[in-house]
Amino acid sequence: MVVLSPNEASQHLTITNDAFLSFRALAESLTYAERNELKLALSLKAAALFENCYELPTDVEKRQTVHECLTYLRALQPYYHQVPDYGVAFIGWPNFMTKALLAQLQTEAVDLRPEANDNNYQFITQEGPIAQKLAESGKVQDFVRRYVLGNFKSSHIQSYLYYDHHGQKNEPHVDNEYTALTCMISLKHTYLDEAKASATVFYDANKGRKACRLIPGEAVIFYGASTLHGRLTVQPEEEVHLLQISFVHEDFMST
Ligand SMILES: [Fe+2]
Repeated sequence: MVVLSPNEASQHLTITNDAFLSFRALAESLTYAERNELKLALSLKAAALFENCYELPTDVEKRQTVHECLTYLRALQPYYHQVPDYGVAFIGWPNFMTKALLAQLQTEAVDLRPEANDNNYQFITQEGPIAQKLAESGKVQDFVRRYVLGNFKSSHIQSYLYYDHHGQKNEPHVDNEYTALTCMISLKHTYLDEAKASATVFYDANKGRKACRLIPGEAVIFYGASTLHGRLTVQPEEEVHLLQISFVHEDFMST
């Protein structure tokens, strides 16, 4: 078994142009259901090769397989050429966020926490009127359009997510097409030790893994149906509140 560091391993990764074009032709011929099955199969195959659940394999053959899975996962999408590295289009303070709005969303998230259900990854509940008003205001759509090239529109799915139990985690996965693009806003992140605190992680076929730890008020826009992503394990006394606003691509809506 050849073992390389992630950086060394990435130098050996290859997919020929012919292979890529053949895969694209195959992707174009598939129905939505077939594409979805292949997407899930590729995501599971890649994730099964990760080390310690979240780390890219150091074995060069496994790393090549992960590289192919991640490349083809993205190439399944008609808009694959618009997906940025790691599937992440933006990280930072969104232009629509004010201190007053952040305070309102934080309060709403706390108020709705008792209604949240455990979906085995995190606690989740539908949005309240503050988040709904924000999502329907057009401000988030306008913000997303500044950083995203594809024709995405609101899927009218907004959720508060809570990671507030030690050991909670969301292993690397891909999202469905109704949440193909997500604007995820941090509302709360408290922890005992920043070095150990959980983070959202995104994976790129060529560049590896990016960890993203937002401060309250910041947002990340990511192509969740095109890239593997997840949440690292929540530590003792760590607490995370997030608001997710989702978008769907118009090509999917026309299928
Ligand atoms: Fe996801």
